[in-house]
Amino acid sequence: MSTSSINEIPEEFRISPINCDSYLVNGQLKKWKGNTTEVFSSIRTPNKEGALKPTLLGSIPDMETKSALEALKAAENAYGKGKGLWPTMKVSERLKCMEVFVKKMKEHRDIVVKLLMWEICKNKSDSYKEFDRTIDYINDTIEAYKNLDRKSARFDKEGGIYAHIRRGPLGVILCLGPYNYPLNETFCLLIPAIIMGNTAIFKPAKHGVLLIYPLLQAFQESFPPGVVNILFGRGRKIASPIMKTGAIDVLALIGHSNSAVALQDEHPKKNKLRLVLGLEAKNPGIILPDADLEHTVKECISGTLSYNGQRCTALKVLYVHESIIDEFNRKFSEEVDKLKFGMPWEKDAFLTPLPEPNKPKYIKDLIDDAVKYGAKIINKKGGELSENYSFPAVLYPVNDKMKVYHEEQFGPVIPIISYKDIDEPLDAMADTDYGQQVSLFGRDVRKIGPLIDTLANLVCRVNLNSACQRGPDVYPFTGRKNSAVSTLSVYDALRSFSIRTFVASKDTPYNNEILENLLNSNESNFVTTEYLL
Ligand code: G3H
Repeated sequence: MSTSSINEIPEEFRISPINCDSYLVNGQLKKWKGNTTEVFSSIRTPNKEGALKPTLLGSIPDMETKSALEALKAAENAYGKGKGLWPTMKVSERLKCMEVFVKKMKEHRDIVVKLLMWEICKNKSDSYKEFDRTIDYINDTIEAYKNLDRKSARFDKEGGIYAHIRRGPLGVILCLGPYNYPLNETFCLLIPAIIMGNTAIFKPAKHGVLLIYPLLQAFQESFPPGVVNILFGRGRKIASPIMKTGAIDVLALIGHSNSAVALQDEHPKKNKLRLVLGLEAKNPGIILPDADLEHTVKECISGTLSYNGQRCTALKVLYVHESIIDEFNRKFSEEVDKLKFGMPWEKDAFLTPLPEPNKPKYIKDLIDDAVKYGAKIINKKGGELSENYSFPAVLYPVNDKMKVYHEEQFGPVIPIISYKDIDEPLDAMADTDYGQQVSLFGRDVRKIGPLIDTLANLVCRVNLNSACQRGPDVYPFTGRKNSAVSTLSVYDALRSFSIRTFVASKDTPYNNEILENLLNSNESNFVTTEYLL
């Protein structure tokens, strides 16, 4: 599961090491002169001696706390205690900056996509999709903000008081994204945060980090100094010290709840800190006796194994009714074994190497533990190991003694549980710490109807006869319990990164004259009834 000769790689996807030697602070691309960390791809290519080794992709700064605090200062200054240029700027001006950015970002599509393929081993079509979806997200966010702003360009009157209500920024954001969508999910936090007038410090995830480098200049040239600050390095030297200062107003993080809790714990002013978090999930697929099995198997394949199951929305456990379990297991296992493994650039490669060096071993441990407690690997190729991959293992029967029953595996292993009574999966869902989505497969509305009524109270999206997913991005993406805090979508993210704030004025001739003068004078960017078209 490696590339034995460089010639096997199409010319357009070959890569030479990229040394990311700068970072963005206060509008300046500063050269990093300290320690650096090498970045490797788990895709193995021949070294000079011809031995297959993880491919060196380049290096990133291993930044120190001093630089992190310098970036924090820059973000704080740009916010300027609410007086800064950016948070007080006309909405139309902020949108212009974003339009400039998106135009510049598009110029880097090919290199960002190539790095997605090498750094996180995402296949070619999904890598292009991630880039294009992010561009669409930014454009949609611009339109959504125009719409929001248009709706705010008015006065309300209640109880003899005029109110001019808008959404205002919250302050300084610390933004941390995940490795599985290092561009899309990070930008789905960062873009709405800054467009609303906040300022940000952003540190990319451990994997999928070099791909931010080509975009540094676009950020620098598009936004005023200090609005976006981009750092590279380790969380403990960067994120923790920043949180400790108490200066952060919003922690925006997509990742594991342990990291989110640890960072919150560092913050001395708990009620000041707002949270926008996308966390772990263990979305179940529930397969009713009358489900169309052919269709269900197809959806379960994409739900469990798209991007090797490394999606927070992946189906991570399948509950199958006992009356159809044998047929489902047979059909599903056959389809899993047919999936094509390949390098990200190979045509139709559905399964690709795992970017995290320890992941194959973790997956193997989950399988061994499940087997110890009575599960079998029911597909022929399940668990076949190489240095950077573990072929998807379908495990059955799974029970609550096994680690794979409880843990979010985030990788290619599929636990299957058979049930007799529908209360079994429902109770299991209610007892977990997760509550993001569910997939429900079946047809009989007398069964499905009441089930939907319960499931909608356990998770935040019930997918009928289809795999779980985040998109389309206009729909609310959130979760209960330990799966999320706040809601993201093009529309909701603008709200998550802002707060309603307003000017109130008693209906008196004295005040009304002032308001009218204000509106005619253009002295305030807040009190304005200008329409954005
Ligand atoms: O990792 C979690 C992602 O938000 C999943 O998004 O459903 O579009 O793959 P997706």
